This record gives sequence, structure tokens and C-alpha cells, in this order.
Amino acid sequence: MKHDELFALLRRRGVLWPSAEIYGGAQGLYDYGPLGAALKRRLEEAWSAWFLGLSPDYHRIEPAELLPEAVVRASGHLENFTDPEVTCEACHAAFRADSLLEKIRPEGVDGLSAAQIGEILRAQQLRCPTCGSTALGVPRPFNLMFGMEFGPTGKERVYLQPETAQASYLAFARMWDVGRHRLPLGIAVIGKAYRNEIAPRQVLFRMRAFTQAELQIFFDPTAFPVPFDAVRTERLPVLRVPRRTQGEETPELVTAEELVRSGDLPAFYVYHLVQTLRFYRDVLGYPAERIRLFEKSATERAFYNRIQFDVEVHLESLGGYKELGAVHYRGDYDLTRHSEGSGKDLSVHPTGRPPLRPHVLELTFGVDRNLWALADIHLGKDGERTVWRLPPYLAPVGVGVFPLIEAEHGAVAATLARDLAAAGVVAQYDDASSIGKRYARMDEAGTPFCVTVDGDTVGEGTARGTVTLRARDSRTQERLPSDGLAARLRPSFVPPRPALG
Ligand code: GAP
Repeated sequence: MKHDELFALLRRRGVLWPSAEIYGGAQGLYDYGPLGAALKRRLEEAWSAWFLGLSPDYHRIEPAELLPEAVVRASGHLENFTDPEVTCEACHAAFRADSLLEKIRPEGVDGLSAAQIGEILRAQQLRCPTCGSTALGVPRPFNLMFGMEFGPTGKERVYLQPETAQASYLAFARMWDVGRHRLPLGIAVIGKAYRNEIAPRQVLFRMRAFTQAELQIFFDPTAFPVPFDAVRTERLPVLRVPRRTQGEETPELVTAEELVRSGDLPAFYVYHLVQTLRFYRDVLGYPAERIRLFEKSATERAFYNRIQFDVEVHLESLGGYKELGAVHYRGDYDLTRHSEGSGKDLSVHPTGRPPLRPHVLELTFGVDRNLWALADIHLGKDGERTVWRLPPYLAPVGVGVFPLIEAEHGAVAATLARDLAAAGVVAQYDDASSIGKRYARMDEAGTPFCVTVDGDTVGEGTARGTVTLRARDSRTQERLPSDGLAARLRPSFVPPRPALG
């Protein structure tokens, strides 16, 4: 679907809408309604099941979202977490200077400072996209963090976390103390990140408050054992830097083994790249041919990274490949910076091994962007009907329960919906309008199964106690006893876990 059509549909169904809509909205802020909130929860559960399923030593924590100034100074965000901003001196509209330049510079803008971007913009006499004047000012580095006073004195400052990762670094020493004193140790956070984006756009793609799911794996760089045999022959759709610099945009399929043999990617990194790919492809159901693993060069990478592959997925609504997550090898950057900043040495002494300062592998995932991708990829037309073919474990509602005639079958259907809910299946009772319209509503909401209670269910014949089960994707129907329904359906709602070889 095209962007506007998809957004209109999601809005109409109450999946999401602009925050403070009655005041005209607030740029870069969106609220989720019942369907959107439920889908987001399932997505987060599926992410947790997969990535925490990689090791019994990976745990989720729930930190505060405010970071004292000393933390963001040590992390480098106070100094480096900037985008070049340029303001039009005629109409005062603000833009990302690099985005303006990108439009006229096919070779890209990575590695250019704000001052260099300014010189090129001036030399090219670039016009303001809003008013058309050539009075674009001098670009300046604009820090994306939201800072605020903390406490009544006004002397302390805190920042809304710009990434959830920092909380895991701050928790590392405590988690080490309460844990089993062994590496690798994983600390995951699912939480809000806040960025004062210069130009929020594309609904869930450039937001000012969004949700990240991030796993930080702390490990010994001399020994990070992974079951590589379980992924050795997996083919990854990679777009590596040398091919990119030749103008290639399509990925090539390379086995995990070949990637490691290329010499610059460690086995632990490639192993996690495969597990990440499997999550997008096998758990979220994104078609393999739409995914590419996009390697970032030294000048493009985030300031803390040694190796970075972004997971990009081709989205029709946004007209191209979009970054939905990434695998970052951050080295010892974070624990070294926080050791220096806090004065507490974050080296550890694993049982039976020499002391060391662990390195970090970060698996980062944008929850909102993936929620949009789930709509882009799985929501579409099938003839006359609109169907959201979500994997069942992601569906906001698992089963729609309908009485054929409300007055005659309503009580039994309502009881069945309650029984299913009590047995752990998210069931929604619906008696409004014709059965066809109820199916259509459920199809559009992504509900994988519908159950209808009718005269035979409540009658005295041999079909007493049976119901009709209808599958969303095939539209096939079968008659079966309502008794075993929960046990039959429940496995569909369990998110997959990784095979560990
Ligand atoms: N801890 C690493 C980190 O924050 P990032 O590439 O800045 O890395 C990670 O962000 C993910 O967060 C991205 O891949 C994207 O999915 C999501 N993300 C980043 N900025 C976003 C924004 N303004 N709106 C929505 N999602 C965003």
C-alpha cells in the first residue's frame, strides 16, 4: 500500500494516531490505540522470546529513562550525538543540512562536518525547500537530546535517554555482582528513547519518542564461543562496503562461513547476524528477498561502533529500503568511557579466567519502525477484502468469537470467549452486524481465527457443543467441539525461539 493509504487505514482502525491530535498533533509523536498497543506488546514479547532465548545468561531489566548529565558526557552523547541543522534566514524553517545536500550529491555526505556541508550548500546556492530563498544560514551541530532541570535547585541536569543501551552499561556492575560471574552476560532493555529530531517524518520512522528493544551482550573478546555450526551454511543477503562503493544496491547471498573467511568479521559477529536475520525473516515473516544487511563504512558508522550492519527491509509504503535495526560491535568503548566517567573500574574477573574489561555486541531493534513494517508487508488487499496476515503470535486478537444470532447464541458465545481468555487465548466477542462484516473486521485487524456459535452448537442434535472455526488466510472452515479449542489454538500463539544447534 502507498504511505498515505496505509496511514489512513491504521488511523481509521485506531491502531495509531498523532499525539495531541485534537490540538493539531505534535511533530514526531504518535499514540497507539488498542490494536496498536496490543500488536506492539506482542512484537516486544516475540523479540524477547527470540533474543533472550539465545542464552540463559541474557536477562531483561527495566531502568529509569532519565540519565544524569555525567552519564551522557561520559558516553559521548553530549559531544557527538548531533545532526547538522540549517535554518532559512528568510522563513526560519529548520532542516537537516545533510538531508538537503544528499538530494544533490549522489556520492553521499558521510564524513562531512557541519562546516563542510555549509560550504557546499553555499557554493551550490541551494534553495530553502519551504520558501525558495537562497538565504540558508550556516549549518551547526544540533544535539538531539532532550535535557531538563532535575530537582528544585535548577543546578542538576538530566537527559531523556537517547538510546536504551546506556541503561545496560550503567547496570553492568550490579548485574555482574548479582549474577554468576561469567561471560557472555546479556542485558536487555525495551523502553522509550527520546530524540529531538530536526525533521520528524514518515510517521513511525523518524519520531521524537520511540521504543527500542536492545540487547547488550558483554563478552570476552578472546573467547566468545558460539554454536557456529548451526549457522555455517546459512546464506545472508549482504551489501558490503566494496560493492556499495561500486554503486551496487542489491545484496548478494553469502554464506556465514564465507563471511568469516573474508577475514574482517569475527565468527561471533556473523553468528548473531544470522540469528538477527532469522528473527526478521522467520519470526516477523518479512520475505527474504526484501531484506538486506547493509554494512556501514568507518565514516558512516555510529561513533561508538567498530562493525555495523544495518538490517534494511524494502517497504512499498516508503518507496525503498529502510533501516529497522542493526548489529553493532561496540568494542570496549562503553565500559571504558563509563569507567573513566564514574571512577569505577568496570573490569571484571570471571571465574577461572584473567580479569578483563568486556566488549559489547549490541543487537538493536526499532519497535515502532517494525510495527509499521508489519503493516506494510502483511496488510493488503485480497480481492475485495483487506487482510492483515500477521503471524498468529503477533496478532492483537487471537480469536474472534461470534454468535450467529445474538439473541439465540449470544450467551454461549460470550461464555466461550471468556473460557478461551481464561485458557490464555486472546478472544474478542463480536455480535455487531452480519457474519461477513464481522469476518471483514477481524481480517483487517489481523485476527487469525474466528469461531461461530450457531443453532447446532446449542441444539440437541449430534453437533451440540461444536462450533465453526474459520482460518483467516485460507478462509477454510471446519466444524469441531468447542471443548478442545484452546488447546488446539494455543501453540499458534507462542512466539518461536531460536534453534541453538
Ligand atoms: N543503541 C544504538 C542505537 O540507538 P540507532 O541506529 O540510533 O542505534 C537503533 O537506533 C534503532 O532505533 C534504529 O535501527 C531504528 O529502528 C530505531 N530508531 C532510531 N531513531 C529513530 C527515530 N527517530 N524514530 C523511530 N525509530 C528510530
